[in-house]
Amino acid sequence: MDSHCHVFRSSILHFPEETSSPEQNFNFFKDGFLVTRNGKIAAIGHFSDLPEEFKSYSVVDYSGKLLVPGFIDCHLHFPQTEMIASYGEQLLQWLQNFTFPTETKFQDHDYAKAMANLFLAQLFSNGTTSAMVYSSVHKQATDALFAAATEQQMALIAGKVCMDRNCPDDLRDCPTSAQKDSVELIEKWHNKGRTKYALTPRFAPTSSENQLAALGELAQQYKDVFIQTHLSENTHEIAWVKELFPQHQHYLDVYDHHHLVRKGSVFGHCIHLHQDEWDLLAATQATIAFCPSSNLFLGSGLFNLDKAKQSNVNVALATDVGAGTSFNMLRTMGDAYKICQLNHCKLSALSGLYMMTQGTAKALDLDDSIGNLNPGSHADFVVLDPKFSNLSEIRTASLMTDNTINLPSDVLFALSMLADERTTEATYIAGKAVFKQPARSH
Ligand code: GUN
Ligand code: ZN
Repeated sequence: MDSHCHVFRSSILHFPEETSSPEQNFNFFKDGFLVTRNGKIAAIGHFSDLPEEFKSYSVVDYSGKLLVPGFIDCHLHFPQTEMIASYGEQLLQWLQNFTFPTETKFQDHDYAKAMANLFLAQLFSNGTTSAMVYSSVHKQATDALFAAATEQQMALIAGKVCMDRNCPDDLRDCPTSAQKDSVELIEKWHNKGRTKYALTPRFAPTSSENQLAALGELAQQYKDVFIQTHLSENTHEIAWVKELFPQHQHYLDVYDHHHLVRKGSVFGHCIHLHQDEWDLLAATQATIAFCPSSNLFLGSGLFNLDKAKQSNVNVALATDVGAGTSFNMLRTMGDAYKICQLNHCKLSALSGLYMMTQGTAKALDLDDSIGNLNPGSHADFVVLDPKFSNLSEIRTASLMTDNTINLPSDVLFALSMLADERTTEATYIAGKAVFKQPARSH
């Protein structure tokens, strides 16, 4: 008997493969089992088909709950945790008034370390098990974040922000130091355990042409590191990029010129793109991080998800905390639905779930280990409680019989509007619980 096996019983939903029709190509086990062994998924199926070899184990019983792959948040800012929900500005003023002063605090390693643990706790209590994260400009803070993720065996992608102009002096690096610090962090953390590195120029206005060139050199030297930055979020930002880089055809061309556009590059926002930019994103298989909560909060505009689909561009959902107003990916899916309503298109709950699990994993070439519940993948999953509140209980009652979920897409949709940390019954990373809901009062 293998003592490292754990057997879970629940309604289970996931996407085993890549698909352009998440509404059709999902696997749902109304009364399912999931077996984990040594931190990976060993088996999945209908509970009535539980193989003989696992029958002697005690069962962790999540009947009446919905077990899905751990969520992947494809764009958010670790040092902005404490400035979430800061009033009243659009992007450029918001950066000046709130973001830069807050990020300055992360030059203190002990402070960054404490905030890294708090940040990860926020992710886990909201069901997020992987994330692509911007640190501050400080190497030490980035180190602290990677160390905290490593302690939890979390599949984290992160990078030190690089910026050498148009920001306060104490947040400024230079092309040489940005390159040197990024190399040291790559050597220390990329493909070490479950962590990976992302080159992270904040956005074109805060990097000189020389700095982008220095990071482009690294992109060519380290072919498998990720790249993350912001693109076409706000109309004032776009006008500014035109002024700063008059010789480039369009905003994305600034990054492309420096070899920063490729598979594994993730561009936050992409609300106001030209056709040439859509075409280039599609041709390079780069990914857009759709950050609906942030886009509404900063008044940036309505991302056109239909256009992305028609253009064959990868889209991953993301919170963009601290411009995003919640760490909860289900809630973020709810905001995406509302943006699609305003754009006269529909976002199904299954498409939303795909964009924060298997779809994102596929876009980043990580689907052999995260984003799904296939045997062999890491056992990163979240258990959701449809009855987490009195309101959600009456809302979902008709979607369940005998304490089992009948209609997972309807349950998921209701949760996308109503969810918060109470929705998360438990979050598991590499088979180990990193969050459990405290006992409920009702
Ligand atoms: N553009 C450049 N930096 C940022 C940031 O921190 N947040 C958002 N939403 N957009 C940015
Ligand atoms: Zn951002």
